[in-house]
Amino acid sequence: DTIYVLNGPNLNLLGTREPEIYGSDTLDDIAGQLEDRARDLDLAIDMRQSNHEGHLIDWLHEAQARGARAVLLNAGAYTHTSVALHDAIKSIRTPVIEVHLSNPHTRESFRHVSLVGQAAKGTIAGFGALSYLLALEAAARL
Ligand code: DQA
Repeated sequence: DTIYVLNGPNLNLLGTREPEIYGSDTLDDIAGQLEDRARDLDLAIDMRQSNHEGHLIDWLHEAQARGARAVLLNAGAYTHTSVALHDAIKSIRTPVIEVHLSNPHTRESFRHVSLVGQAAKGTIAGFGALSYLLALEAAARL
């Protein structure tokens, strides 16, 4: 079974982007950690990143069409703005787990609403790169 791991805007800069908030691991580092753990769980990881909202929506549809077990979604700032992503999550039966490196609730008020979280199965946030691994553990048990 495959777990899609979809990453939104600015996450391609992980490692150098505000490391005091997001840590020093790059997205490739996180992909490596996920792949190591997925091997033990007998799962495959399909990790992607885009700065474009529509790509994320297309990939959510694709996850269902290809029979993915679950989607881990860090939608970046689209988390807080995108009705289209909210609707896409609602439009598929594939479970979507919202992931964040930081804890948006401890940050600026514009991060306190999550349109992704209002459609997702559950949310893991605030543990840095570990958030992704914890979300993978959850996905493996669905
Ligand atoms: C983020 C939190 C969002 O508020 C922010 O816009 C990001 C990263 C996180 O992983 O902590 O781009 O999704």
